[in-house]
Amino acid sequence: METTDFSRRDFLKSAAAMGGGSLLLSAFPWLQTFSKENQKEVIGEKAKIAIIGTGSRGMYHIQNILRVIPQAEIVALCDVYQPHLDQAAALCPKAKTYTDYRELLLSPEVEGVLIASPLHTHASLTIAGLNAGKHVFCEKSMARTLDDCKAMYDTYKQSGKVLYIGQQRLFDPKYIKAFEMVHNGSIGEVVGIRNYWFRNNDWRRPVSDPSLERHINWRLYKEYSGGLMTELATHQLQLGTWALKALPDFISGFGDIIFWKDGREVYDSVNVMYHYPNGVHMSFESTISNKFFGMGEQILGHKGTIELSKGKYYMEEPKPAPGIQQLINQIEHKVFDNVSFAGPSWVPETASESKGEYIVEKTKTHDGASSTGAVGDGSEELVAAFCHSVITGKPIPSLVEEAYYSSVLALLGIKAMEERVVMPFPDAYKIPYLNHSNV
Ligand SMILES: NC(=O)c1ccc[n+]([C@@H]2O[C@H](COP(=O)([O-])OP(=O)(O)OC[C@H]3O[C@@H](n4cnc5c(N)ncnc54)[C@H](O)[C@@H]3O)[C@@H](O)[C@H]2O)c1
Repeated sequence: METTDFSRRDFLKSAAAMGGGSLLLSAFPWLQTFSKENQKEVIGEKAKIAIIGTGSRGMYHIQNILRVIPQAEIVALCDVYQPHLDQAAALCPKAKTYTDYRELLLSPEVEGVLIASPLHTHASLTIAGLNAGKHVFCEKSMARTLDDCKAMYDTYKQSGKVLYIGQQRLFDPKYIKAFEMVHNGSIGEVVGIRNYWFRNNDWRRPVSDPSLERHINWRLYKEYSGGLMTELATHQLQLGTWALKALPDFISGFGDIIFWKDGREVYDSVNVMYHYPNGVHMSFESTISNKFFGMGEQILGHKGTIELSKGKYYMEEPKPAPGIQQLINQIEHKVFDNVSFAGPSWVPETASESKGEYIVEKTKTHDGASSTGAVGDGSEELVAAFCHSVITGKPIPSLVEEAYYSSVLALLGIKAMEERVVMPFPDAYKIPYLNHSNV
């Protein structure tokens, strides 16, 4: 398989150099905006963008756009909470400001909207945006309910407009390279996928007046949020769809509020299991009262392991150690061979101490502690690609499908936990996706 050097910060240039017909772009079609041909289309052009929801993530995107995305111009801003609207207006003094997104959508100047509002608003805002003839970028997760995810997808397909969902790992060089390795067999057959995300904080934001509690701390209440599943798991659950090119057939799990018993409604501890038709399991585990293990995403193959959060891979049979280490190993094994109760071939069964190899050079990693965003995680490239698509008006294959399935898997996980059942993947929420085996 053709490979690409993703080691440089501007890895997208190397994708561009490969041209639109390469194997890389057919395996990762959402990178096609960066092909050489497509880059030519936007020279000198600017996408006229509006930001709806100028809280924490909205401000992060505004700062990135102003700093590194020259093909975008922020022409309008909208937030229902005046202090947040004011902080964005201070950075974009020329942009028009709105407190009602419906008025903003009437503006002919706006070509694309970037929605960074709370989860329960995603579907109505996105659908209104597409129906108003705008291209839409909506933050993850897609929507608060399965029906809303489906309605967003259906509207997108009918609209002919561009839709992006904020799943930045699809644009992170170490993920692209890792999935190239998975698909070309470098780690052998995929036999398991493990995801975890641990933090140790209450996930609360300060509230100046109790009447604002639900508006500011929307993440903690079921009406607006699916908690750890929609806020964290959605990023990681796409690994299953991506690596296995299939959907799970059964989902089960447990969720509880075990530590932060402060009036919140969403679980602070979850363990969810996704079972695939070939028997492979994908797990997601999250607790926010112990951060020792941080964030992890691991693809286990019968020949090797990829640990995406560390940007590393480890082969089951590492290269032979240098001479002196081999000698030490031989002596140690002789000692163990003489331990009668364990039998002649017994060696201690514990984790590998291999330090592994980096998937790409100059790997950027983060610990998953920030709830806003991290440098080098693909977010800048994702928004740059959206601005490109706003200029060309061409929807990008696979992007929405990837996001749809990671959101749906998160929501099915919640349903399985709440109902305490082993949940089959419902046919009603299957959408066509590439050559995936069971959709
Ligand atoms: N991709 C990522 O890594 C990432 C990281 C952080 C947050 N997010 C997502 O971004 C979204 C926003 O998260 P956040 O942390 O910025 O939340 P936030 O509460 O800080 O900001 C949300 C903003 O939306 C505004 N708002 C609410 N309803 C609105 C409406 N109807 N019209 C206009 N504005 C409205 C609020 O007043 C607030 O300013 C969430 O969906 C979250 O999951 C994604």
